[in-house]
Amino acid sequence: MAWTDTVPDVALSSLPPPDQDRLWRQLMELAEFRELDQPGWTRRLFSEPYQRSRAWTRDLMEAAGLEVQADAVGNLLGRLAGVSSDVPELVIGSHTDTVAGGGRFDGMVGVVAAVEVARLLGQTGRRLRHSLLVVDFLGEEPNRFGISCVGSAAVVGQLGEELLRLTDEKGDTLAAALAGIGASPGGLSEMVWPTQRLHGYLELHIEQGARLEREGIRLGVVTSIAGIHRGVITLVGRPDHAGTAAMDDRRDALAAAAEVVLLVERLARESRLGGDGVGTVGRLEIAPGAANVVPGMAIVWVEFRSAESKWLDDRHRALEAGVRDCAARRRLEVEIEWISEGSPVACAPGPRRAIVEAIEELGQAHLELPSGASHDAALLAQICPIGMIFIPSREGRSHCPEEWTDPEDVALGAEALLGAVLRLDLADSL
Ligand code: HGY
Ligand code: MN
Ligand code: MN
Repeated sequence: MAWTDTVPDVALSSLPPPDQDRLWRQLMELAEFRELDQPGWTRRLFSEPYQRSRAWTRDLMEAAGLEVQADAVGNLLGRLAGVSSDVPELVIGSHTDTVAGGGRFDGMVGVVAAVEVARLLGQTGRRLRHSLLVVDFLGEEPNRFGISCVGSAAVVGQLGEELLRLTDEKGDTLAAALAGIGASPGGLSEMVWPTQRLHGYLELHIEQGARLEREGIRLGVVTSIAGIHRGVITLVGRPDHAGTAAMDDRRDALAAAAEVVLLVERLARESRLGGDGVGTVGRLEIAPGAANVVPGMAIVWVEFRSAESKWLDDRHRALEAGVRDCAARRRLEVEIEWISEGSPVACAPGPRRAIVEAIEELGQAHLELPSGASHDAALLAQICPIGMIFIPSREGRSHCPEEWTDPEDVALGAEALLGAVLRLDLADSL
């Protein structure tokens, strides 16, 4: 393949547009790697369909002309060599795992679009100054061990021994589960990306909210990614006969958990500082779980999210105090374990400017907005400047089978990503 050694002109018009039909076909094909006993297009980390889909994604990257390898944790990295090998790499990508009952676009759009960008650059023989790294990060969604962003945490050196020792309900460790899918947890320290390795990171993603749709704008420039404080609250009371235990004698863990659920909602609704704070209890486990037994134990997964650190810290403290008060009143033991206390992350000015310029060159309007969802980009921000492009989600729905983005917006998002890559490539530093 003849390569021009000149740095490509920035104008998008000098490159063919992303192929909308090809992108759509890939998204629909990838969606069929799903857990058939789950609703929607479920493809969770450690599931068999996810394993099979990794081979499909690897083939997709290779067919686009990328040199592909999997790192020690199982991230898929496809590389397109740049003109100069002594400058940091430009990274684009996202994830292809889903939540239970998930859709076909959260994460997947960013991976197929990144591969399409690399394919177009390769096909036209245009070499960037920087090598381009297309990444499908392993396991971005929260898994049964309670953590998310496994692959991107590993590249920034945050997948440490403590997390690898986390166990699931069967007592298996995260390390064992990763080894079970061919990862080599022992090699994690060598795979950490040094900060000087990266020029910048860009991620195309569906908005998973309704702002773009409401404003009739097709492209979003992300300003910041919400911080997440996620905790696991274990309430231990006493199982009793539901027919004979007097109400005053009961130490009912589920009744206490119900108080916690409503406390999270109340705290999230109050003093939002005019911001975007939200609070959720998305998972609840009780024991023994029989209709005629007063629940003796309840585990409540809680999370608060916001672009405002102070709001998050205030909720964190207020929840702890409220839970301990509830447990004391109901004579329960309580343990509160915070599994993430992530602060909000800002997208960097350089990538944001490149994205805006690329969108303007497409003759499109754009909306600057924060992301209430978290992304691999939030981890990458620890080692390089990040930028994110949003495309609309119909009715703002995501993490559900109804998740939908129009094919035209997928292609437009890929074109904006291409334009931003060309611009970032010309910058010596961001
Ligand atoms: O939870 C999130 O925001 C992301 O989808 N993992
Ligand atoms: Mn998600
Ligand atoms: Mn996602």
